[in-house]
Amino acid sequence: MATTGLSAGGTRHWSRTGPALRVVARAPPVLECSTPMGSTLGFWLSFAATLLLLVIALVSGWRGRRRVHLVAGPLALVLLAIAIVCTEQLMRNYRFPEAALRFHLVFAKTGGLLALPVVVTGVWLWRRPAARPWHRRAVWLFLLGAVAATSTGIWLFMQGTPAPPK
Ligand code: HEM
Repeated sequence: MATTGLSAGGTRHWSRTGPALRVVARAPPVLECSTPMGSTLGFWLSFAATLLLLVIALVSGWRGRRRVHLVAGPLALVLLAIAIVCTEQLMRNYRFPEAALRFHLVFAKTGGLLALPVVVTGVWLWRRPAARPWHRRAVWLFLLGAVAATSTGIWLFMQGTPAPPK
């Protein structure tokens, strides 16, 4: 089996054992937040951008600035998803106590799921003003979940130790 180093994140293995050329590939990550040197720049950038957009979404929603809000709200959630991917990549460089990791994951998963009602009630409110109290409740629950996930995440990282080099 020959090996080529074509991709940045993964290595491709080419095998000629079958009737056709078989490619066994480990796909490179769609989004690479940290360098092999362990830089945390991608993580911090996505975290700061998410916070900024969440504040813009909150303020524009409150003030009824619908056009700004309909850009900032969805974009804040997209950036949140990117920040989560970057956090997972950063976590691979550390080892955590099993119980603490499980505890944090409960809040992290709940926090992520709470973004869904924000989207559903937001689109609903776009069509029907009667949905306003529901969007408001979904937003507060989501923000509560995000604060819980972030604080348990910081607590988890405080207990982390650098992973041994591979
Ligand atoms: C897909 C995502 C979202 C959609 C489609 C959406 C949609 C909307 C719409 C149509 C309004 C009414 C604006 C007006 O008064 O004309 C609104 C209000 C609001 N949105 Fe969103 N939104 C989304 C995400 C968010 C996010 C992420 C936040 C906060 C972090 C947020 C916070 C608010 C707040 C606080 C209001 C004002 C509610 C009130 O008047 O009591 N929204 N949203």
